[in-house]
Amino acid sequence: MRMYDIIVDKRNGKELTQEQIAWAVAGYTGGSIPDYQVAAWLMAIYFQGMTERETAWLTDAMAASGELIDLAAIPGIKVDKHSTGGVGDKTTLIVGPIVAACGVPVAKMSGRGLGHTGGTVDKLEAIPGFQTVLPKEEFCRIVREVGIAVIGQSGNIAPADKKLYALRDVTGTVENISLIASSIMSKKIAAGADAIVLDVKTGRGAFMETLEGSLSLAKAMVAIGEKVGRKTIALVTDMDEPLGAAVGNALEVEEAAATLRGRGPEDLQQVCLELAANMLLLAGKGGGHIDGCREMARQALTDGRAFAKLKQMVAAQGGDPSYLEESGSFPAAPLILPVKARISGYVTAIDALAIGNASAVLGAGRLRKEDDIDHRAGLILKKKIGQWVEEGQVLAELHTAAADKGEEGSRLVARAIGIGPAKPQLPLLIHSRVTAAGVEKLAQETGT
Ligand code: URA
Repeated sequence: MRMYDIIVDKRNGKELTQEQIAWAVAGYTGGSIPDYQVAAWLMAIYFQGMTERETAWLTDAMAASGELIDLAAIPGIKVDKHSTGGVGDKTTLIVGPIVAACGVPVAKMSGRGLGHTGGTVDKLEAIPGFQTVLPKEEFCRIVREVGIAVIGQSGNIAPADKKLYALRDVTGTVENISLIASSIMSKKIAAGADAIVLDVKTGRGAFMETLEGSLSLAKAMVAIGEKVGRKTIALVTDMDEPLGAAVGNALEVEEAAATLRGRGPEDLQQVCLELAANMLLLAGKGGGHIDGCREMARQALTDGRAFAKLKQMVAAQGGDPSYLEESGSFPAAPLILPVKARISGYVTAIDALAIGNASAVLGAGRLRKEDDIDHRAGLILKKKIGQWVEEGQVLAELHTAAADKGEEGSRLVARAIGIGPAKPQLPLLIHSRVTAAGVEKLAQETGT
């Protein structure tokens, strides 16, 4: 086989064979095919697209390029959850314990934040003592005994994707639905999930800004899941404004714990309950009906079992669960600065991308993978879209260690929040649910 022919076939719009795709991926990962040929191939894919079959074969080849995690030692159907990335997205910390409290094992590998988006591993590391690196046997033991464990993703999961993503990043070939979908799904499949619930974000702070793009991505990932024998459901949820009020690591852990104590923001609670219900459905709970699963998830949240599960997991992974008992327990940032409204009116927009960038500037995020983060840093939104604010009232509270970061963060946050005389239409929180059977519109509004 020659890489040249594979490039030309794709350039001419031909469907590639499974053998061609597997050969190209293995060759690139092993170092026998050079960057320049794979860059040309990616550009041909970018313009010609891939069929559903090709996308599934690419996913398989990337998943098979490294370690395949075997979760067979954990009894039960293991359902994974993945978010395409957002601002204030602390859903794993809430959804995982809800699902585990309902008897479904959660063996989750999560990532770190980069750019304007946060990552679950960084959030968990804000809890003093919490270990996100565990030997595989210990990880499986905790899942078996507690029902849930969350660790950082092993370095050898889908190495082909790591190499291809780095090349896409510098060759203008990131924004292709087949390439994004196969990249995400290859890692989920290699991580050993039996079934997968995807939270595909849409809006300003999301990877896909338009609803149309997010729906296409959701459909592509569900199709891959079905083709490779993993039941998959995708929810398309709003990321025009941040989810909940807290953005930043310790602040988000506090908000997640508060949500599990029944004191969380309405929008965050709604998205988490819907994600949890869909995970329970894929695990065969609730009599196989989504409404039964919704009820199960709500019960586990309201009766405190999910909160108890989070504390058990934190203790099992070396963390101190006493920090979760009440808000304000975590070490505070040295500076807490208000951003005030310059006029009275309705909050008409809270640009999630700009808020995510502001949080990174305050110290909560990293611009490069090797940057350090300040777990105390971030911000708390005091108003959400649709709420009335008086001139001089606090719109957001910024947490940071340095005055210059605070000044830049204040400028970014002030610019990110729009205020106007007319009450805006509230953003739709959960747009749709995509399954193998098709797209169902859910159209749940935010609870503002
Ligand atoms: N996230 C991934 O893991 N891969 C992509 O291609 C895009 C977002």
